[in-house]
Amino acid sequence: MAIFGDHKYIIMKVAVVGVTGMVGQVMCRVLEERKFPITDFLPVASARSVGKTVVFMGKEHTIISMQEAIEKAPNLALFSAGGNTAKEFAPQFAAVGTTVVDNSSAFRMHKGMPLIVPEVNLHHLQAHHRIIANPNCSTIQLVVALKPLQEQYGIERLIISTYQSMTGTGVQAVQQYQEESEGKKATNPAYPHPIFENCIPHCDVFVQDGYTREELKLVHETRKILDSPQMRITATAVRVPVKGGHSESVNITLSQPFELSELKDVLEAAEGLIVVDNPTNNEYPMPLQAHHQDAVFVGRIRRDFSETNSLNMWVVADNLRKGAATNTIQIAEYLHAKGWLNQQK
Ligand SMILES: NC(=O)c1ccc[n+]([C@@H]2O[C@H](COP(=O)([O-])OP(=O)(O)OC[C@H]3O[C@@H](n4cnc5c(N)ncnc54)[C@H](OP(=O)(O)O)[C@@H]3O)[C@@H](O)[C@H]2O)c1
Repeated sequence: MAIFGDHKYIIMKVAVVGVTGMVGQVMCRVLEERKFPITDFLPVASARSVGKTVVFMGKEHTIISMQEAIEKAPNLALFSAGGNTAKEFAPQFAAVGTTVVDNSSAFRMHKGMPLIVPEVNLHHLQAHHRIIANPNCSTIQLVVALKPLQEQYGIERLIISTYQSMTGTGVQAVQQYQEESEGKKATNPAYPHPIFENCIPHCDVFVQDGYTREELKLVHETRKILDSPQMRITATAVRVPVKGGHSESVNITLSQPFELSELKDVLEAAEGLIVVDNPTNNEYPMPLQAHHQDAVFVGRIRRDFSETNSLNMWVVADNLRKGAATNTIQIAEYLHAKGWLNQQK
């Protein structure tokens, strides 16, 4: 259920930047489904797409350039157009009073810039923030599942292995999979290896000590969102030929002893989280079931007998919805409900 508060805006101009991309298209769908109250819809993409049309709320809209959108000084700009585009243009929108929610990694680790998952850390968001970062998709689903455990027991250490959908890379990766599945050589591959019938232990680029940037995002973003700069975290991120969502195997060492049944109750009661954990009936979360859903699903919850106060669990979510578009629009709904989307040049 979307909540918009008592604030009545006469005009609510919303730009969707990267409207033709994987995340941009889902953002439009989620805005429609949740009936975000828009008076002026401004679709924005690169020069390649300007002048083409998109359908939003049953009407055709012409895609405009970034500059045209800035001139219209929208109340809100929802960005999913990559880090360099965000670095260049998000501050220009902010300068005309627009509040930007950005899906790229451009601002996530900037001091003083909020990195928000509404179920977890809305308290980091304040009225003066003009650029708000949406976390990485694999981080969002992880912290939704961790927050209730952190509150109840405290968390000492995490060992994470991801099984990430190729939709997390964007349209180029889906195109690569499509061509390879038809027995063709990919014309413009997103990955250095085939993704069809393969899994690639390499998400984003290698940066430091043998880790990829995706793995380090999991470490640093999780610490920032959970206000736990010292939390011990290690991760391995793997790309798999799946379309429906990301899966994560998470090994957690808690700060206190726990009863497994009580811990499951804690997860059951958490906002945005659905426990699917009935192994005797072969019931556990899977990307096929998470596809097109907004919740985070958790299952395979079991004690790790090799370490004290430890457990394993399996976390799944649709990376384009809760991992990107839905999280962005939940942030926008909160800003709207607070009355913080008025322009303040
Ligand atoms: N896919 C995911 O699961 C996911 C999750 C979380 C965050 N993200 C982040 O969201 C962003 C977009 O990801 P995606 O998967 O949607 O990528 P994508 O499918 O490749 O789409 C990229 C979008 O950005 C637009 N764009 C590129 N350069 C631009 C420019 N200079 N000016 C204006 N628009 C420009 C493209 O427009 P054209 O069509 O005109 O080229 C397209 O609409 C990335 O930063 C990504 O890291 C993605």
